[in-house]
Amino acid sequence: MRELHSIVVLTGAGVSAESGIATFRGPGGLWEGHRVEDVCTPEALARDPALVHRFYDLRRAALAGVAPNPAHHALARLDAQWPGELLIVTQNVDDLHERAGATRLLHIHGELRSALCAACGARREWAAPLPPGSVCAACGQAALRPDIVFFGEMPYQMERIEAALADCDLFVSVGTSGAVYPAAGFVQTARYHGADTLEMNLDPSMGSVFFAESRMGAAGVLVPEWVEAVLATTSDT
Ligand code: APR
Repeated sequence: MRELHSIVVLTGAGVSAESGIATFRGPGGLWEGHRVEDVCTPEALARDPALVHRFYDLRRAALAGVAPNPAHHALARLDAQWPGELLIVTQNVDDLHERAGATRLLHIHGELRSALCAACGARREWAAPLPPGSVCAACGQAALRPDIVFFGEMPYQMERIEAALADCDLFVSVGTSGAVYPAAGFVQTARYHGADTLEMNLDPSMGSVFFAESRMGAAGVLVPEWVEAVLATTSDT
């Protein structure tokens, strides 16, 4: 067993489910009530920006009513106490990892609380509803849009993620169905580079077959147990 130094954790909607945020697929999933083509593609934004902005305004407003759960808090504890390398790559656009205290974190699919200028690439906080055509303070153009990676767009910070996957000793996936690439392929990249792999999920995912170990159960139970065990290895050394 390689000495454990560098960890990459991928999280999906399942890590926020116990906080009351709907996942995307499965019963009551977000894509049950909305068509991706209507609210999560560049074409949708061009065709009906008010609908797209309203969809993300509603999801952002819902953040006020939710809080991090034990899985977020456990990952924040790992972030604070793990002496080696750690990168938490979240597919989620909520801010619950941050609110739990995580810092070694990146959002591969963007963030609800951020607006992006489609003209100059500047970002600003998106707190209150932002109507389509809002003006960018950096360049003055009416080009602010949700800072969300739509289907068909390039995920964020892929070079940083690929480098972390090439270097990690352990790749852990929490609460994702493995339905969307490139995130769904990270386990294979990590394995290719010799990392150990662990999945924690409520149900078998589309990627379960690629993991050396899959633990089925609620993230709020499994993640704190796993973090406890990993941090215990540091006190052993
Ligand atoms: N604990 C652990 N896992 C859970 C829990 C829980 N309490 N509740 C649900 N899950 C699991 C489900 O079994 C499912 O496999 O979380 C997964 C959620 O899957 P999806 O709804 O597909 O969400 P995700 O995998 O994050 O979607 C990936 O798809 O629509 C795009 O951009 C969107 O980032 C999203 C991407």
